[in-house]
Amino acid sequence: MSVFYDENANTFTLNTDNSTYQILIGRYGILLHLYYGEKTAGDLSYLMTYNVRGFSLNPYETGREFSLDTMPFEYPHYGNGDYRHASFNMKNADGVYGCDLRYKSHRITKGKYAIPKLPAVYAGENEAETLEIVLADEAAGAEVTLKYATLDKLDVITKAVSVKNIADKEITVTKAYSGALDVMYGDYDAVYLPGRSTGERHVKRVPVSPGSFSFGSVRGNSSHQYNPFMILADREATEDKGSCIGMALLYSGNFKCEVEYDQYRKTRVSMGVNGELFEYALKPGEVFDTPELAYIYSGEGLTVLSQRAHKLIRGHICRGAYRDAMRPVLVNSWEATYFDFNGEKLVKLAKDAAELGIETLVLDDGWFGNRTGDATGLGDWYVNEEKMGEPLSATVKKINSLGMKFGLWIEPEMVSEDSDLYRTHPDWAFTIPGRKPKMGRNQLVLDFSRKEVVDCVFDQIAAVMDAANVEYIKMDMNRCLMDIYSAAETRQNAGATMYKHVLGVYDFLERLLGRYPNLLFESCNGGGGRFDAGILYYSPQIWCSDNTDAIERIKIQHGTSFCYPSSTMGAHVTVSPNHQIGRSTPLKTRAAVAMSGTFGYELDPGKLPDAEKEQVKQQIKDYKKYWSLIHRGLYFRLTNPNENPDFAAWEFASEDKKEALLNFVTLDAWCNPPVFYVKVKGLDPDAAYYIEGKEKTYTGSALMNAGIPAPYMKGEYQTWQIHIIQK
Ligand code: DGJ
Repeated sequence: MSVFYDENANTFTLNTDNSTYQILIGRYGILLHLYYGEKTAGDLSYLMTYNVRGFSLNPYETGREFSLDTMPFEYPHYGNGDYRHASFNMKNADGVYGCDLRYKSHRITKGKYAIPKLPAVYAGENEAETLEIVLADEAAGAEVTLKYATLDKLDVITKAVSVKNIADKEITVTKAYSGALDVMYGDYDAVYLPGRSTGERHVKRVPVSPGSFSFGSVRGNSSHQYNPFMILADREATEDKGSCIGMALLYSGNFKCEVEYDQYRKTRVSMGVNGELFEYALKPGEVFDTPELAYIYSGEGLTVLSQRAHKLIRGHICRGAYRDAMRPVLVNSWEATYFDFNGEKLVKLAKDAAELGIETLVLDDGWFGNRTGDATGLGDWYVNEEKMGEPLSATVKKINSLGMKFGLWIEPEMVSEDSDLYRTHPDWAFTIPGRKPKMGRNQLVLDFSRKEVVDCVFDQIAAVMDAANVEYIKMDMNRCLMDIYSAAETRQNAGATMYKHVLGVYDFLERLLGRYPNLLFESCNGGGGRFDAGILYYSPQIWCSDNTDAIERIKIQHGTSFCYPSSTMGAHVTVSPNHQIGRSTPLKTRAAVAMSGTFGYELDPGKLPDAEKEQVKQQIKDYKKYWSLIHRGLYFRLTNPNENPDFAAWEFASEDKKEALLNFVTLDAWCNPPVFYVKVKGLDPDAAYYIEGKEKTYTGSALMNAGIPAPYMKGEYQTWQIHIIQK
């Protein structure tokens, strides 16, 4: 049993293999947080201290020693006497804010709860246990259920919240985070993944200090700028030691993470749907569900934390036919042709690619409606046969006859003003009546909170897919939301509409997967603007960034790896000099970096010199050889490429320690340089290892403790990739 209630101590304990989480039903039913950390036995309620504090409020029922703004709360909410940031707030029909939620009941069940219309971690009946704690404030009219599930083997605890209106009038939820974590004492750092378009998820570590620190998005997507993931790490924690707690939000819309360090040196971290631009009205009996927040614990440093997050995402969030399967090596048409293609050109591209061993051609933007550039055609999801020169099915048949699969790009949430869809249904796009909307990439966003809009786009795209053998979809999103006004009859406000838009996107995705269960699905948001654990419930891979420069990608993939596994990172080899930044890098380096994700090419293979064609053939063979290691193995960050100017190194090791793939890339060019040594990780210290193709043997302990010298390689951005095998 991993979840239990101790009725003498009034505590709930949630255990995983290596962690313990404990909650106290305090006096007067006030739900308090006792502990989350290394696995610990016993009643921890002795940790709770009660002091008289000036300028603190006290519950009506008690004396001055129950100082509410100093207590660790399990679900802090406005109105409970706490002045730190709240996870929950509401107003009643008279516009009165706040509530005072007290314990009402609880339930412990086998298996893992699901969340209606939202992505959630899934687990078998015997892999998880669920605890639901019901809190209520009858006077305010709110019943709040805190849901928890334990996945013991992964050291994961999930949280989600549902809010029910138990009043006889409407109430409005104005903030409802998925979870909060109050820590009674200690010095912590916040590790998070800020970035920008074409520079996503560059890891950053900052000390948690007095005051508040927050990051999030009001853009309607989770965003390039901030990722809905953070780690609360012991100040002393490193890659290899120390305790740390990861928090991944399974949500692809507006979110916020707030970190606060208070006057008594307590830390609070909470995350959920952003309270800014958010109001959700509930009629009597209606329920609002928050997205899920997954907590991942490691007492052994950041590397183990990431490895556990990777297992969670790979095995309990990602779904579909390709969850565990090797993804075909693809060529994507975008950087090969941009908008300039027709059926004949695509078949030629496929033929040249097939000769090198590439298995899928993905036709990117430009195949539909009047899509002559980025200003037209979005919303008209029918094949532009005039441009293609033939029906799509004819092109696909020719591509299939080369032994290649075919994939298609879509951007369902978007509409161009110059499109039949917009001309017919101008009110389907987010615009405010009487005002000119803001444009992004010359396009508007469709209101996916409206079912008829999702229906129309889905039906159009399904018709194209039904007519041709489409085995892969890349779903893009190339602008953020603004000018939110829903012309839906319900007249939802902006916040509710943005939340419902995300539910509409999830509905679209669920329908797509239901109708095409064998589809390989990649999501994209102008690169990695929606790289979150929510979207991974629908697509097992995400285009990591529109920046395909190998050296920039090392940093992006390094940051991404803190939460997300390599199997989710769309990564392609593109031409040199790189189209985005103009840097030249060797083909070997571009391949080694792209191989650390879902491998593909985004160039015209017919234009490669013969020697490079031979290299590509070998790279594809190598990728297949290493696939299991890369996609199922343990990932080790051996350097921080943001801090080490000399070289970057990362590694994949099999869990049984039988083999490892070491990747080493120089970040500069040298004459007469120092020798760079790399310490390998994840080997058996007592076993003997050799490097494939070489005679010499090493002990695992030597490779891990003393390291191995990298060879001198002349020129910039050189790669040394070695396969280390146990004898
Ligand atoms: C942005 C994506 O990230 C690119 O890969 C490409 O699909 C373009 N959109 C197409 O418009």
